[in-house]
Amino acid sequence: MNSTIRLEPSGKEVDCRSGDTVLAALERSGFVMPNNCRAGACGECKTLVTDGDIDQGIVLDMALSPDERDEGYGLMCMAKPVSSVVSIEFGTDDAKPRLFPPKDRVSFAVTDILPRTPKIVEVRLRPLGENLRYWPGQYVMLGDERAGAPPRSYSIANAPRPDGELHLLIARVEDGATSGWVHDTLEVGDRVTVAGPYGTFVGDAATDTPVLCLASGSGLAPIMALTDAALRRGFPHPVTIVFSARGVEDEVDEGMFAFWTLKHRKFNSVITYTGDDAPAGAKHRGRIPVVLPGLFTDLSNHTIFIAGSPEFVDACRASVAELGADPDHVHVEGYYPQAPAESPPAHRLTG
Ligand SMILES: Cc1cc2nc3c(=O)[nH]c(=O)nc-3n(C[C@H](O)[C@H](O)[C@H](O)COP(=O)(O)OP(=O)(O)OC[C@H]3O[C@@H](n4cnc5c(N)ncnc54)[C@H](O)[C@@H]3O)c2cc1C
Ligand code: FES
Repeated sequence: MNSTIRLEPSGKEVDCRSGDTVLAALERSGFVMPNNCRAGACGECKTLVTDGDIDQGIVLDMALSPDERDEGYGLMCMAKPVSSVVSIEFGTDDAKPRLFPPKDRVSFAVTDILPRTPKIVEVRLRPLGENLRYWPGQYVMLGDERAGAPPRSYSIANAPRPDGELHLLIARVEDGATSGWVHDTLEVGDRVTVAGPYGTFVGDAATDTPVLCLASGSGLAPIMALTDAALRRGFPHPVTIVFSARGVEDEVDEGMFAFWTLKHRKFNSVITYTGDDAPAGAKHRGRIPVVLPGLFTDLSNHTIFIAGSPEFVDACRASVAELGADPDHVHVEGYYPQAPAESPPAHRLTG
């Protein structure tokens, strides 16, 4: 039996094919729901069912307690509608994803510090308590006041994982207090406290267009998280990353680019080199605004994500506007020095 899933409070409706879970039906229609295990074990997709009936399937009590079941909650990765209409609490008035309220102090262990370029290290953090819940594209504040490193914003470079690990790409800034501390003092095995998640640079749940991502340097971090999440959930439209590097030394994630290219027909990556140290035979040279018109003639039907230094973001925004991009579909994350953390607006927070 095919069913309709109604999203409250927006009233939007999604078709659910016979045999599909609610999560699968939402994803097929372009809506993003948090999920980690897709097997009824983690509780990440817990949602209130406000009307209609579901077959919950077999799930762990740990993920959905008997009390929560009585209150009407279900795990959407396993739940299948058994009535013609099932209403669930999902998203805001305009069906945008609800964001998780930021927490002040969450403890992590540093499990790895990997040099990724001469200027950028990847810091891997594992939660010592509960996982930090976030949407791909958001960032955390990391620092250690006692060590003279004031909390600074760092975008999470991976989509949420069952083990809660966070990957940060942190560039050394000359005379930078916190980036210097990360590069020179922080060690594997240290305990750190982060705050977050912050920001609204997240994928729009209903994106139904090709996606173009533009990044340079550690601006690649939120782009990697967004792309990782989109490809994992089978986003049906083309996803292109254009990354600007001075030379081969600046290439950060070419391994993941290669993997995604082999695994996902719709993924494409382009590296453009702006300095003298470009590899022989480099296909693209010059800044993104210079190469973009050669790659795309019309961006009016694209959703665009841009991340990096404020100057990079401004230049790319102007360039995509010239190619017809709709400003409502251009999302930017400028790495402003010492910018205060941006808490998501209250109407977009869960709970
Ligand atoms: C939303 C957001 C997300 C961010 N995500 C990341 C990320 O994922 N990875 C990352 O590496 N950084 C990121 N940043 C930048 C980061 O928060 C810090 O600003 C950066 O690490 C510098 O901090 P610092 O304490 O080392 O330098 P500070 O001690 O604050 O600054 C030292 C000097 O360098 C100047 N300066 C600061 N930043 C820069 C810069 N980028 N380029 C040139 N000069 C600078 C300052 O004006 C000052 O004169 C992000 C910023 C924002 C707002
Ligand atoms: S995604 Fe883990 S319980 Fe649904």
